[in-house]
Amino acid sequence: MAFTVAIDGPAAAGKGTISRAIANRFGFEYLDTGLLYRATGAKVAAGMAPLEAASSLTPEDLARGDLRTAEAGQAASRVAAMADVREALVAFQRDFARRGTGAVLDGRDIGTVICPGAEVKLFVTASDTVRADRRWRELADPSLTRDAVLEDLRARDRRDRERAAAPLRPAQDAVVLDTSQMDIDAAVSAAAARITAAL
Ligand code: C5P
Repeated sequence: MAFTVAIDGPAAAGKGTISRAIANRFGFEYLDTGLLYRATGAKVAAGMAPLEAASSLTPEDLARGDLRTAEAGQAASRVAAMADVREALVAFQRDFARRGTGAVLDGRDIGTVICPGAEVKLFVTASDTVRADRRWRELADPSLTRDAVLEDLRARDRRDRERAAAPLRPAQDAVVLDTSQMDIDAAVSAAAARITAAL
């Protein structure tokens, strides 16, 4: 039986870094579900209808190089508020969760909607200023100010929390991991300890 790790939380809290490290350490498959919404948003920005875009995603769509930009993040959070788009992406995510001996999925609604029975649920968060600072350093774009990145994150988080369809919130049985004061190693160790305890 596959073991599922659900990692949810707001943008730039460290979910991706923690998820990749955990998948590596335990030999689990990893799916960054944000990519599904980013790729859908990019196709919509190019003129396709949202439901059609979500229903026709290909591996090539997910491999596009321009999905990490702030614009792609905003486009993702707009299509992510649409219930029919979310519905179209459920089956792929649930099938993925059953792959291999275990799978790590990171996103916003993995513990609440996609995999409510996940063996481990983590809600990874950090203060918005810490998250903006990390994202700003990571983007390393001289045309972006730290404040602009902060505004962008706040707008996206607000949309993700306030939407009616699968809003961002911790599952009742999720363990909250606040990484504001943690470096990567400490955050990965804390997450790994939860998984070891549940294996
Ligand atoms: O995680 P990432 O920043 O790549 O996600 C981009 C956007 O996709 C989020 O702001 C959110 O609106 C949406 N998303 C979602 N549910 C997920 C993953 C991402 O609604 N499971």
